[in-house]
Amino acid sequence: MTFETVYADAPAPDGPALFPTMATMRAMRRLRTDPVPDGTIDQLIQAAVWGPSGGNMQCYEYVVVTDRAVMAELAPLWKRCVDAYLATTGKHAPKGMPEAAYARMVAAIEYQRDHFADTPVLIIPCYKFPEPEFDEEGLAVYAESLGPAGLERMAATQTRFQALAEGSCVYPGVQNILLAARALGLAANVTIWHLMLEQEWKKALGIPEDTHTFAAIPVGWPAGNFGPVRRRPVADVVHRDRW
Ligand SMILES: Cc1cc2nc3c(=O)[nH]c(=O)nc-3n(C[C@H](O)[C@H](O)[C@H](O)COP(=O)(O)O)c2cc1C
Repeated sequence: MTFETVYADAPAPDGPALFPTMATMRAMRRLRTDPVPDGTIDQLIQAAVWGPSGGNMQCYEYVVVTDRAVMAELAPLWKRCVDAYLATTGKHAPKGMPEAAYARMVAAIEYQRDHFADTPVLIIPCYKFPEPEFDEEGLAVYAESLGPAGLERMAATQTRFQALAEGSCVYPGVQNILLAARALGLAANVTIWHLMLEQEWKKALGIPEDTHTFAAIPVGWPAGNFGPVRRRPVADVVHRDRW
């Protein structure tokens, strides 16, 4: 895989109207400060709720922040998270990304950090997976189906399983928010750095202790330009029939 293949603009796609939307849906960190009407925000959450969840359990909740005072309280928390990221993992460009492209991305990240209090809308998707039901009979089948080694591995990876199960139930809705925002002329970007201080964010927003947060999505009218996303070519990522 070369830099040219990864960072070449994707060719303009043929296909349904959704395709050009997906192919040009870049993370937009520069937002205008104009408010977003409540009805439009409702459309975004409706799009999220149209997403699937495991067993159609729909244990998601969406915290939507538009209050300037609340956003002003969150802004210093966001700055601490961004600064921690930029001083560590974000210190250098990811492998293969040209320094100039990374410098532009860091400039946008810093812009968003420094203007976070002006973010028109912040959406925090949450999920709380129900406790698994284990009665004696069920446990016996569970143990027999997985086998001793499988059971041991399952016990060892329970935390990861739970996190992935909840994430899998909430991220389809997150992607729908991004697509709906783009379709409505809005801009957004998924962020997860708030997880570095998740307890503080939850406290500031009154999110219950046992409920997990999965992203913080700033939304507003775009101040920058959309354009083709830069992604690896399909032929580079597909393994037909086996790896
Ligand atoms: C799961 C996930 C987490 C992300 N977390 C952050 C984040 O915390 N902060 C941020 O500025 N961007 C974040 N991003 C945005 C990505 O950096 C961005 O989508 C990627 O660099 C590709 O750029 P593009 O979407 O403009 O093509 C995240 C994206 C995803 C999918």
